[in-house]
Amino acid sequence: MKVLAVYGSGHQGSSCNAMLAQAVKGARDAGHTVLEYSIYDMNIKGCTGCRACKEGGEQVCVVKDDLKPYFEELCSADVILLSAPNHTGQPCGPMITYLNRHYCLLRTDWTAKNKAGMRVAGFFSQGAPDPEAYRAVYQSYMADFQRRGMTLIDILIHAGREAVSQELLDRAYRLGQEL
Ligand SMILES: Cc1cc2nc3c(=O)[nH]c(=O)nc-3n(C[C@H](O)[C@H](O)[C@H](O)COP(=O)(O)O)c2cc1C
Repeated sequence: MKVLAVYGSGHQGSSCNAMLAQAVKGARDAGHTVLEYSIYDMNIKGCTGCRACKEGGEQVCVVKDDLKPYFEELCSADVILLSAPNHTGQPCGPMITYLNRHYCLLRTDWTAKNKAGMRVAGFFSQGAPDPEAYRAVYQSYMADFQRRGMTLIDILIHAGREAVSQELLDRAYRLGQEL
């Protein structure tokens, strides 16, 4: 399977990126092809609403920035694994910008251009110690991928100031291995 892994935190030692890295390791150990993208290392523009993706048949996003290679792979990918830290109660700004760009996957009849049967998993981290505090927000973020016909595999949440637990890292690894 082709797996796209999108790292959404910008600092060394990130908890959500650590979980995603474990899922990537599991996926590679299971023999899957994983392509990795680090959002904070990329020049990414917001969706301009140009509608070239709506008027151009199967055309995906035409914006010329560092997401272009990602979109070239996306329509033949099987899985997206993504991570995002919580910034002011929601996934960080660059990951919202990234999400917005998936507008291009919807045709005007609301069907999706990406492969049928695609799946997606999210790895989120937050300072608030209650893992349930923002679950609905993360579910809402992931729902936008589900609206493009993707099935949600799971949402893993690291909560609080401690280092991400071995239990969560193991869950992430297994998620990748069992794709
Ligand atoms: C700009 C900013 C805003 C934040 N806002 C929240 C917040 O509203 N709620 C929360 O629980 N944590 C918040 N945090 C804390 C981060 O979510 C927390 O440190 C998280 O572990 C970062 O994940 P990472 O290590 O994977 O980057 C904020 C952090 C930053 C830098």
